[in-house]
Amino acid sequence: MKTEKRKDAHIELAQKKQSQFNTSTLFNEVKLIHNSLSFFEINEINTKTEFLGKKFSFPLSIRPITGGTEKSFELNKNIALACEKKGIGFSLGSMRTALENKNKLKYYKLRKYCPTVFLEANIGALELEKYSAKKIDSFLSETEANAVSVHLNSAQELMQNQKTKGFSKQFKNIKNFAEKSSFPVIVKEVGQGISFETAKKLNTTKIKGIDVAGSGGTNFIKIDSILHNKKSLGKTFGEFGIPTAASVLMTKKAFGKKIIASGGIRNGLEIAKSIVLGADLTGIAGPVLWKAKKGGKKVEEFLEVLEKELRISMFLVGAKNLTELKKKKFVLQDNLLEWKNYT
Ligand SMILES: Cc1cc2nc3c(=O)[nH]c(=O)nc-3n(C[C@H](O)[C@H](O)[C@H](O)COP(=O)(O)O)c2cc1C
Repeated sequence: MKTEKRKDAHIELAQKKQSQFNTSTLFNEVKLIHNSLSFFEINEINTKTEFLGKKFSFPLSIRPITGGTEKSFELNKNIALACEKKGIGFSLGSMRTALENKNKLKYYKLRKYCPTVFLEANIGALELEKYSAKKIDSFLSETEANAVSVHLNSAQELMQNQKTKGFSKQFKNIKNFAEKSSFPVIVKEVGQGISFETAKKLNTTKIKGIDVAGSGGTNFIKIDSILHNKKSLGKTFGEFGIPTAASVLMTKKAFGKKIIASGGIRNGLEIAKSIVLGADLTGIAGPVLWKAKKGGKKVEEFLEVLEKELRISMFLVGAKNLTELKKKKFVLQDNLLEWKNYT
């Protein structure tokens, strides 16, 4: 199946209930401590942060979704405009289509809709074998990106019909790319989560951050097993992955640089919990896509709800800003405790 056709099919399928995990992110097993007696007003709360040199009005970045087609351009435009309005980060989807065909570059030129935001571009780790750092950097300059995320997606690839090779070279290629590129490099998953061991290995490279993209939200094992008629594989592996809350805890232990919590984050309380567990930023993809189809205003309204919920969460735990929120104590329960104890 051609890259562009697959991308449009992903957009359609990602909105269906059967494309989500049934098992949770385990944020439900993180309990924050309620503070009844506040010494400040809710309007005194400051949710601002900085990430890799760029300012955010609250710690959220829309994760890579799509790019390279006319349809994707319209969706990304709606998202980019809303991110600019709300002062949060935005990411283009995989640049592969433009690397394969220069005529498609125009579909990634979104900077004019979000002139001040932290803009990321995205590429698959497997593509690093094919394209030089120079060629990728040229795409980053043309799209005026601030950084690039490189996605690891072995589970997804194995659900597709292509005979994918090159998994064993991914680490070496990421390491070399992070040394050669003039842009900050972030490594991300796409919904199966980053383990303690992977984070530890990545900590030896020059990458600047990890986006854990754990399990509990959008599920590419399910999406691609449906798309490529591999229903039996989808059934066997459909709940495979590291729950997002567990992946944040592990990555925090093993990786000394920036951490983005994402994968199944669906409300502002989960944003607050991510920060308490050690994330610097959080991310959402699937639900934003569903809103973007209905227009930029819907994305903006959704972002406003998330910001408000984060603010309420901070008030309820007595944190006036994100530095204070990071220091708050928490309780871990049941399964999450087991994940934590394994490292
Ligand atoms: C339709 C769709 C397309 C996606 N395409 C990409 C992609 O090109 N590159 C990438 O790194 N992640 C991609 N993702 C994965 C997201 O960036 C994110 O890691 C994942 O969806 C988990 O977050 P969520 O549960 O909030 O959706 C895509 C997600 C969706 C829904």
